[in-house]
Amino acid sequence: MSYQHILVLTGAGISAESGIPVFRAEDGLWENHRVEDVATPDGFVRNPQLVHDFYNTMRRSVKEKQPNPAHLALTKLQTELEKQGGTVTIVTQNIDDLHEKAKSHNVIHMHGELNSILCERCGKSYEWHEDCDGTTVCKFCGHKTMRPDIVWFGEIPYHMEAIEREIQKCDLFMAIGTSGVVYPAAGFVSYCSHQGKPCLEFNLTPSANSGVFTQSYLGKAGTTLPAFVDYLLTHGTWPDPSEL
Ligand code: APR
Repeated sequence: MSYQHILVLTGAGISAESGIPVFRAEDGLWENHRVEDVATPDGFVRNPQLVHDFYNTMRRSVKEKQPNPAHLALTKLQTELEKQGGTVTIVTQNIDDLHEKAKSHNVIHMHGELNSILCERCGKSYEWHEDCDGTTVCKFCGHKTMRPDIVWFGEIPYHMEAIEREIQKCDLFMAIGTSGVVYPAAGFVSYCSHQGKPCLEFNLTPSANSGVFTQSYLGKAGTTLPAFVDYLLTHGTWPDPSEL
């Protein structure tokens, strides 16, 4: 295998075939809500119950969802590369747990997780699988000051130092199912590309920053990714799209 340290960035598109809707629908709404209402700190101050309801509904719905062949292909790549002494790190913008359900590890959730809640008073977060609202008591400080553990617009993504280390270390970068419009994630490809690393994109259509990628594999990730992983594991290098 020509590559020892693969960095994978995933976005909503990798979970689309599992039945979880992507964010940037044509109408600009998320599940019939304005982004400003359900994904900003101001929205939470204005109407905490609406925001809790939104994420409670999503948490319940995602519980039923299963990983698709794209998630499973990443697990296969990780398992096989690790046998050869390599690593696959998955940085996801997704708040679902489908990489974990697919038994991947080394998963970094840069935009938080549905299955976690955060105390606004003491700043601690912890795993949570039930509904959460203004009556939920923080298990650490005892106050009713819990919010979804989601990085909203205007907030700083999690684990940026660890992600920067992975960007330096990797020798291949792959972006899967992400529109390339939300920073800092959308900028990772430029860092890797400036360092001369091959950057591969998997998307239905070219993303906003498609021009920075070395190669684009257009189509459903549930189809392109398993074929890509099999090729990479067999030949040790990435294929021309026509070979998939
Ligand atoms: N296979 C591959 N790509 C797909 C598929 C599929 N089956 N279905 C959709 N896509 C692509 C779309 O073409 C689009 O480019 O996935 C992308 C999804 O884009 P977004 O909805 O913008 O999701 P994402 O890039 O993850 O959003 C980034 O923005 O709203 C915030 O915090 C939120 O994490 C999110 C971030």
